[in-house]
Amino acid sequence: MKGVGDYMKISNKMFEALVKQVSHEADASQLYLAMASWCESSGYSGAAKFFYSRSEEEREHMIKVIRYINKIGAHATIPDVKQPPVNYDSFEAVFQLAYENEKDVTASVNKTVNLSKDEKDHFTFNFLQWLVDEQLEEEQMFESILTKIKLIGLDGRGIYILDKEISEMDN
Ligand code: FEO
Repeated sequence: MKGVGDYMKISNKMFEALVKQVSHEADASQLYLAMASWCESSGYSGAAKFFYSRSEEEREHMIKVIRYINKIGAHATIPDVKQPPVNYDSFEAVFQLAYENEKDVTASVNKTVNLSKDEKDHFTFNFLQWLVDEQLEEEQMFESILTKIKLIGLDGRGIYILDKEISEMDN
């Protein structure tokens, strides 16, 4: 009798890379949730709204990868989630860490895309293109926020303006 995985249209190596991607998306979602909670309890309501929304979006990415794995005949296993930091040094430190996290995720996506090319796995190569676009968008977004933080500064007025502006980036 055929079992789950017998109809798998990708290699085991590709399967493992995709499951790792699920893990990255889950960790990102959890990290942004922790950041949202820290921002909210620190009085940065705009940044909190922004990170709650980012957390949801990363969860959507995770589910999209899970459903792709299942669609191509495998069984997406659900990994453990990494415990994110509870406290952050500052408003700026939160965004710096989020940016570093996105760069790590991009590196992982690029590795998976390269593997799909090496294996001539066109299904997976095509599937991953939305994620490549997403990563570029997200890296640019965090980069632009960090630039603004540097330009405007984080004195009382600066942080008020930035928090408000970041809240509007949520949509
Ligand atoms: Fe979906 Fe920003 O990683």
